[in-house]
Amino acid sequence: MKTTTHTLRRLKGQRPIVAVTAYEAITARLAGEAEVDIILVGDSVGNTLLGFDSTIPVTLDMMVHHTAAVARARPAALLAADVPFIEAHFDFERVLHACQRLMQESGAEAVKIEGGLALAPPIARLVEAGVPVWGHLGLKPQQVRTLGRYKKFGHDAAEAEGLLADALALEKAGAFALLLEMIEPNLARTITETVKIPTIGIGSGPYCDGQILVSTDLLGLEPGHAPAFAKPFAQVGEEIKKGFAAYTAAVRARKFPE
Ligand code: KIV
Repeated sequence: MKTTTHTLRRLKGQRPIVAVTAYEAITARLAGEAEVDIILVGDSVGNTLLGFDSTIPVTLDMMVHHTAAVARARPAALLAADVPFIEAHFDFERVLHACQRLMQESGAEAVKIEGGLALAPPIARLVEAGVPVWGHLGLKPQQVRTLGRYKKFGHDAAEAEGLLADALALEKAGAFALLLEMIEPNLARTITETVKIPTIGIGSGPYCDGQILVSTDLLGLEPGHAPAFAKPFAQVGEEIKKGFAAYTAAVRARKFPE
C-alpha cells in the first residue's frame, strides 16, 4: 500500500518509521522491496555519488534528474526530495518553482527543506499551495560553509530553546514531519514529545519517531567514509570490489568469455 504523509502521522506513537536515501532506480526499487516507509532523494547525492565534498554544489537540475530516476522505480514508500542549496532563501516564487519542478517533472510526493523559524512563512505558503513539506532541523549540511564543520546541536540551553521554537514554528506552518539531524538525544526526545508530527532522526539518538540513514552508509558502500553514528548493515562495497576483481582476473586468465 502506498505510504502518504497521512500514513506517517498515523504511525507516530505506533511503530518506528523507517527512512533511507536513494538516488537512482535500482536502489530505490530494492529499498521499496524491503518495505521502508520513506525514500528521500537527498542532496547528499552530492557527497555520496557525485564526488563533491558537500551538498552545496548540488543544483535543482541534479535533484530533478535523480528524483525522476527514483520515481521510475515506483516505490510504495513516500518519495521525498531535497530542495537544494539556497533555493528556499530566494523569494517565494523561486522556491515554489523548485517544488513545482520536483513534484511535476520528477514525481516527488513531498519536499524536504533545511531551515527553522525564518522559513516558516514560505513553508506555510507551500503547504497551502499543496506541497507537503518535511522540515529539517539541527545540523543543516547546506550551512557547512558558515558552520565550518559538521557538529552536534542542542547541548547549550539557548540552542536547545531555539531548536524547540523552530520545531513548533514548522509544525504550525504545516510541515508533515521533522528531520532531526545531529541533535542531542534528550532534546530530540523533548521535541518528539512536544510536536504532534513525526520526527525522523539521524545521529540524534533513539527517541525520535523514526530513523533515516544515507543508503551508501547503511549499505557499507564506502567503508571509512560513513559518520560514526551510521551503522553499516551490509558490506556492499567489499562485494562490488570482489566482483570487479573476479571479472578482471577471469579476463586476464582468458577464462571469460568461455
Ligand atoms: O540529504 C540527505 O541525505 C539528508 C540526510 C540527513 C538524510 O538530508
